[in-house]
Amino acid sequence: MIFTVAIDGPAAAGKGTISRAVAARFGLRHLDTGLLYRAVGVLGGDPVTAARGLRAEDLARDDLRSLAAGQAASKVAVIPEVRAALVEFQRKFARSKGGAVLDGRDIGTVICPEAEVKLYVTASPEVRAHRRWLEVGGDEGAVLAEVKERDARDMGRADAPLRAAVDAVVIDTSEMGIDEAVARAAAVVEMVLKARR
Ligand code: C5P
Repeated sequence: MIFTVAIDGPAAAGKGTISRAVAARFGLRHLDTGLLYRAVGVLGGDPVTAARGLRAEDLARDDLRSLAAGQAASKVAVIPEVRAALVEFQRKFARSKGGAVLDGRDIGTVICPEAEVKLYVTASPEVRAHRRWLEVGGDEGAVLAEVKERDARDMGRADAPLRAAVDAVVIDTSEMGIDEAVARAAAVVEMVLKARR
């Protein structure tokens, strides 16, 4: 079965949790594409060379989840040659046998416009910053500024900017617990899978 679930949206909207839950529920492979950009960002040196030479162990580093890695990722993610170097791996993963869930910023718009399911998971910047702050601590105002800065860079870049695909189902998790968000996403996947049977 070739079956792609594309889950896009801004940082800390709940994409990661929803993606892992949907992948587990339907037995699909999962790729967190943000990790590719985070790895390129923290590797340092020339980002294009880093992206072209990315190895599996680079994605297993334990420093990829920090705010700094997120910022570094969004800076290298504006470089078209970096994005181009990562396209093929993501496309292959998306259309691999058995089905796959990919979460990121441009999965439904650029990496896999033919995805059978497209979700756009979002929430207000304040709610997302609060969630991120609960994880990382520190000054909540600074976390909010970081979230807004990254949104602006991700949405404003020329190459593959963050936006909902026209045919994406939008899930706003601002006033939703994670269980409800997962249930909504799973219901969409279930409906599409049923229609194919
Ligand atoms: O999702 P995550 O916060 O891990 O992504 C880190 C950064 O990587 C994002 O802010 C974005 O700039 C970039 N990214 C991207 N395209 C993707 C996934 C992530 O540009 N598909």
